[in-house]
Amino acid sequence: MKMHDEPAGTVGRAIPAVDSRAKAAGSLAFLQDIALPGMLHARMVAAGQPHARITDLSLERVLALDQVKCVATADDVPGENRVGVIIDDQPLFANERVRYEGDCIAVIGAVDPRAAAEAVSLVNARFEVLAPVVTIEEARAPGAPLIHEGGNLAVERTLLSGDIRKGEAGSEFIVEQTFRSPVQEHAYLEPLGAMAIPSGDGSIEILAPAQCPFYIREAVARCLGLQLSRVRVIQLPMGGAFGGKEDVPSEICGRLAVLATKARRPVRMILSREEDILYTSKRHPMTLRYRMGCDADGCLTFADIAIDADVGAYGTLSPVVLFRSTIHAAGPYRIPNVRVITKGYYTNTAPKGAFRGFGTPQVAFAYEAVMDELAGKVETDPIVFRLKNALRSGTPTATSQVLEESVGFAATLEKADEVLGSDEGRFKPRPIGRGLVAARGVASMIYGVSLGAAGRALDRGAAKVEILKDCSVSVFVGCTDMGQGALTVLSQIAADTLGVQLHAVVVNRVDTDVVPDSGPTVASRTTVVSGNAIIDACRKIMVRLSEVARALLGEDAAYDPATGTAICSRSGRKAGFRRLVAACFDRRIGLASIGWYAVPECRLDEETGQGKAYYVYCFATDIADVLIDTATGRVEVTSFVAIHDSGRIVNRLTAAGQVEGGIAQGLGLALYERYKEAGGHLRSTDLSTYLLPTSLDVCDDIRVEFIEALSSDGPFGAKGLGEPAIIPVPAAVANAVSNALGKRVTALPIDRDFLIAT
Ligand code: MOS
Repeated sequence: MKMHDEPAGTVGRAIPAVDSRAKAAGSLAFLQDIALPGMLHARMVAAGQPHARITDLSLERVLALDQVKCVATADDVPGENRVGVIIDDQPLFANERVRYEGDCIAVIGAVDPRAAAEAVSLVNARFEVLAPVVTIEEARAPGAPLIHEGGNLAVERTLLSGDIRKGEAGSEFIVEQTFRSPVQEHAYLEPLGAMAIPSGDGSIEILAPAQCPFYIREAVARCLGLQLSRVRVIQLPMGGAFGGKEDVPSEICGRLAVLATKARRPVRMILSREEDILYTSKRHPMTLRYRMGCDADGCLTFADIAIDADVGAYGTLSPVVLFRSTIHAAGPYRIPNVRVITKGYYTNTAPKGAFRGFGTPQVAFAYEAVMDELAGKVETDPIVFRLKNALRSGTPTATSQVLEESVGFAATLEKADEVLGSDEGRFKPRPIGRGLVAARGVASMIYGVSLGAAGRALDRGAAKVEILKDCSVSVFVGCTDMGQGALTVLSQIAADTLGVQLHAVVVNRVDTDVVPDSGPTVASRTTVVSGNAIIDACRKIMVRLSEVARALLGEDAAYDPATGTAICSRSGRKAGFRRLVAACFDRRIGLASIGWYAVPECRLDEETGQGKAYYVYCFATDIADVLIDTATGRVEVTSFVAIHDSGRIVNRLTAAGQVEGGIAQGLGLALYERYKEAGGHLRSTDLSTYLLPTSLDVCDDIRVEFIEALSSDGPFGAKGLGEPAIIPVPAAVANAVSNALGKRVTALPIDRDFLIAT
């Protein structure tokens, strides 16, 4: 068998995830499976008060326990007591003020998890209780208690193009509506956790299931007062993340690093589900006021949008989440006059941060409802109406960015049109007796790939590729696999670029000491950033293979990855990959390389939000079929079609899996997930009271279609898919329910009272 002489040709195929077998067999080692001799088990002590001043903190009874070996508070932080990524308003350990019930006041290290948990109840903290601010309305009310000194308005973003008044004047129809989108829990399978291992020589190693190892390195260096090169972060396999493991692990790791340094022992902490729900970030709840118009022909004239978001107790990533909401608020449509004003307010609740879609499922819910309403006014089919206004190559977005290529939006709508069939009443309700009514809804979305103008400085990444003596290929990248399948897709990209078989390639999890800072693993950027960095590294290596080929075969020989061989056209002589690699080893030619990729530059005007927001966009159109029992308020999603333009699909199997997962998570946001809360205290702190969709709630009839509008900047033409998967889902379900009942869904999750016939 000519193992290494046959190129793989894997891109575009359906290939099972490279780690699926180990995961299914339970043999893959997660944080829970890793222990070190002498390791302490840590537990955080939360304030338990939504808003208060700390007047006393006594740890005497905790330290009296034999099994407790170390406790860390703000007093033990050798560096800065802060790890904030953007707005630096969050203490690592709260020492004066408490701004939500999950604020951490201490971390306890004990010999086993049970003793650590017991010790938490012995902490004696006294508080001067302050009035909690729980909702956006309370936060912006005149005379509201101030959560931070600068006031309760944490973030403000604006987008202005054209002239709203002119747009209104040219409108035949105007729709005005206010929407509400709720908080949502990430509910990844594996709760947050990490391990900190002090080396004893002034360096520290962190093992963590986390999206952003380079963020952790900066956070730990900052709170320990170390230089970055003293901190090594190794990413562990992850049981899901969805944005919930973007910046929050920096807090966990910072606290553990302080405790481990003080204890001079390795420390591990794994949150319980309840702690994870109480302490960690969630999706931003939003109130969205939309006013949009169109002319008599159904051409959109203006969009006037005001978004208020609850950012929770600390600013964390809200500036960039709300940037994305603002830029995407007008949807994938050509609208000559747009104004978006977005405001984020502090409340005494858990911080709101990154969550799959990053502030866009909320705006998609609103703009897609308005699109259906306007289509109704013009008496036009919703697909036809969307097609009429769709962004296309050459049209400007709301930021006046003219899209040049890879605009597959209209194609997703045309595909949806084909799936729906030509029936005139295709979106009409179909009563089927006994209070049951069925209907379909459609919803589309736009998503800018990677960090865009708001994150341009971080928008680059690296990869290290090395061909080993046996012709196997070792790859390190700077972006993480959190369960989304990055290891698989990146293995395919490496295999096809080098012209080797897939099993020859091993893509390793991130080690900050091996690969240069590649920014965060967010924003559906991994395929593009790590993929392109791998290609860059592989090309540098192939230059060396070609050099050796020339020496072996003749002056015009070059290595061709399509065939896995080098051929000299003059002499006709050939050498395969294996022979070329052996020749490189013999001649002491290095076969390791660091590849680099910087995303095309994006810049916006801060005041008006005008300019190039993102270098390329994904599009999608979803169709939901619902069956509603108007007697009980039960909604069944009976079938779902998702049509995505994410450029080239590198792996059809894992891509379809991403989309199916996004549908399940989107159904949760639309129909099931709901917090009970009282005065700043969460009351749904487990998965029996916070209801997620189960396999029984997700329809079997899911159809996933891909429109591959290739992006010339993407590896093999790819864009991104992780976040687009969820974005149009709640909107499609809400539009289907609205069509079924003949009244507009304006709040998620859709309320039983709304669904029961009155
Ligand atoms: Mo993702 S929500 O950009 O971590």
